[in-house]
Amino acid sequence: MIPTPDLSHIKKQDYDRVYEPAEDTFLLLDALEEDEKLIQSLKPRICLEIGSGSGCVTTLLAKIVGDSNALFLTTDINSFACETTRQTGLQNKITRIEPINTSLVNGILPRLKNRVDILCFNPPYAVTPHEEVGSFGIEASWAGGIDGREVIDELLPYVKDILSPQGLFYLLLIEENKPKEIVEIMKNQYGMNAMIIMQRRAGREKQFIVKIHH
Ligand SMILES: C[S@@+](CC[C@H](N)C(=O)[O-])C[C@H]1O[C@@H](n2cnc3c(N)ncnc32)[C@H](O)[C@@H]1O
Repeated sequence: MIPTPDLSHIKKQDYDRVYEPAEDTFLLLDALEEDEKLIQSLKPRICLEIGSGSGCVTTLLAKIVGDSNALFLTTDINSFACETTRQTGLQNKITRIEPINTSLVNGILPRLKNRVDILCFNPPYAVTPHEEVGSFGIEASWAGGIDGREVIDELLPYVKDILSPQGLFYLLLIEENKPKEIVEIMKNQYGMNAMIIMQRRAGREKQFIVKIHH
């Protein structure tokens, strides 16, 4: 079992500015741990986490991959999240994390085309008014707009161009995001393989992990 990354360097008040790992984060960590052997067998060269927040997920992924030549790219729309992600890596002796302050894969997709072996996204999934989507602060952690799908739907068309031929995408969703519909969209519109691999109740939320690959 891989220990949860050390986050003791993050102060309580920092969580006013960056998402504090919660049940959704831990479900994504569990999905990666469950696939530990599979991920290691792929010998990933490039991993990308979109919306890295505290950096907890990418740090654990780097521990799973273990290869000192692999590159761990992260993006976040919140610049404080990018700083925190870097610090979390260093706190856990992971020096190969490169945080990028951008939306989704803006500005980096051409360079990453079909090169990402492991892609992760715990998106802003909460159902909110459309107007709340698109901030650069802590609200961006949760505000997902209509059906909580607005940021998620923006990414879906790019997934087939991001993933390498062997690449795996782990996407966290809640019931309100209509995970089964997302599975069908990825299959029917984009010709990808997609399935729900985990689900768990966390209070009032029902959370899912969807795994997508070529
Ligand atoms: C639910 S939090 C997840 C944080 C962390 N990955 C975790 O699991 O604890 C969602 C993250 O996505 C970021 N985010 C929201 N919209 C984004 C976008 N368009 N592009 C990149 N990151 C975004 C937020 O700033 C936040 O850090």
